Amino acid sequence: MTLSPFINVPVLELRRATHRHALLAALERLDARLPVRVPVWIGGERRDGDVPMSTDPGSPERVVAVGARATPADVPHAIEIAERGFVAWSRVPAAERARALVAAAAWLHERRHEAAALAVREAAKPWAEADADVCEAIDFLEYYARGAIALERGEALLPVPGERNELHYRPRGVVAVISPWNFPLAIPVGMVAAGLATGNAVVLKPAEQAPGCAALVVEALRAGGVPPDAVALLPGEGDVGAALVRHPGVHTIAFTGSGPVGLEIIRAAAETPPGARHLKRVVAEMGGKNCVILDADADLDDAVPGILASAFAYAGQKCSAASRILVHEAIADTFAERLAGAVATLQVGQAERFGVDVPPVIEADAQARVRRYAEAARAAGTLVAVREEGVEDTGWFCAPTVISALPADAPVLREEVFGPLLTVEAVRDVDAACDRVDALPFALTQGLYARNPRTVEHVARRSPAGNLYVNRSITGAMVGRQPFGGNRLSGTGTKAGGPEYLLHFVEPHVLTENTVRHGLVV
Ligand SMILES: NC(=O)c1ccc[n+]([C@@H]2O[C@H](COP(=O)([O-])OP(=O)(O)OC[C@H]3O[C@@H](n4cnc5c(N)ncnc54)[C@H](O)[C@@H]3O)[C@@H](O)[C@H]2O)c1
Repeated sequence: MTLSPFINVPVLELRRATHRHALLAALERLDARLPVRVPVWIGGERRDGDVPMSTDPGSPERVVAVGARATPADVPHAIEIAERGFVAWSRVPAAERARALVAAAAWLHERRHEAAALAVREAAKPWAEADADVCEAIDFLEYYARGAIALERGEALLPVPGERNELHYRPRGVVAVISPWNFPLAIPVGMVAAGLATGNAVVLKPAEQAPGCAALVVEALRAGGVPPDAVALLPGEGDVGAALVRHPGVHTIAFTGSGPVGLEIIRAAAETPPGARHLKRVVAEMGGKNCVILDADADLDDAVPGILASAFAYAGQKCSAASRILVHEAIADTFAERLAGAVATLQVGQAERFGVDVPPVIEADAQARVRRYAEAARAAGTLVAVREEGVEDTGWFCAPTVISALPADAPVLREEVFGPLLTVEAVRDVDAACDRVDALPFALTQGLYARNPRTVEHVARRSPAGNLYVNRSITGAMVGRQPFGGNRLSGTGTKAGGPEYLLHFVEPHVLTENTVRHGLVV
């Protein structure tokens, strides 16, 4: 099978009325059939149920998904079927596995409006973000399909006369994928597709807040031709994830989520119970405290809208979102004034309204957490801006807020808030800003606005972040263009959507043969 070179799926141009109408029609169709059904889906067995599974963060009385909730008791059976699925799927040539992933991508592409509508309802993603989520999901399927074909060819080794050396990669076994809710399509698709493309069987434990999107993901893969035994869905709480992590039949754990959960998974996976015949491998993508540095020569016409989008789009609920601005003291006052003006233009409102920047946050707990941090920051620092207009009583809204002049030990400067709360600090120079970035335990994304190429090189050298963005927003990594993932306590340094990601899902095998034959056996 020959696939054309990978390209990213273009996002919809929402300024075009035809696209907007198509999306609204899809939302209307979705609303008419809500709630969607989410099964516990193990091999050919589908267990349905009527338990409310997710609600609309903008109208919490609207149930988006009902279904059967998996429990830790489902884990052994899911692993047993996945082990069976692995035996067959691992023998399928990479080109055929790729064909299934590409077919799943096409299935999703045909339903892109419906998939985006589901992300709007279940995760309160504004349309542009929801559409980008669908595009990224399709990109992952297409990208890893191609990557798996290339990987199957193996690596060329140093040739010497009389010796045949070959390096090949083989799938590891059962992959447990544990995903978050904030990219309810793209992130589970990415991790599941990587596992499947390389010939592993996958058990997906999606975020409890977005099981409807996860069910669509598994439906797409099965419709594309992935055998039911090779991909299972266990929609449940964290305890199901914990049971998967500890199960001796799991070989690889692909996790994206918060730092504390990631660290717990890494610790639990390090246990090798008596009789264990393999080491579990963990791919963990975790949280951040993402800083943007502005030098004195920063172009504020670029920086202000770039920072506004980085901090407040999707209510700051991206792992890559900006949460801390370190601005040269020479421009700090001007920047704060312009940022305050820009915050006053933010559209706060329901995700389904075109043009909304700041939708409600995902759930009541998240709203309480963000408000707690905002109140503590307002008490300890100076309020630069707050945007109350559009904040509704129904829905888990949080007013976008900017605070400056905080004491160095304020928790909001070190801890991930994951909401529309931004802090601003004036610094003596770029090196002082780099020192503060370097003092953090996180290293996911970082931004820099500066015009001097020497400053750009200097900050790039000093940056610990997995992804440094210069003179642009710090969110929106594209598959194949910005391989994405953090360092330090932000992750295991694996780069989703990059050329080496698939290597985490395989084991290398080297064959060496002495080709100088002594006599011939016939
Ligand atoms: N680095 C990245 O690429 C990236 C991308 C998206 C989100 N994130 C991070 O994810 C977080 C937001 O997502 P979230 O609220 O869904 O995170 P979370 O850690 O609360 O949950 C993530 C997943 O882990 C499961 N889980 C919970 N406890 C578990 C346990 N003890 N063992 C195994 N699994 C368990 C959850 O059920 C869910 O499926 C933020 O911290 C954000 O920065 C990181």
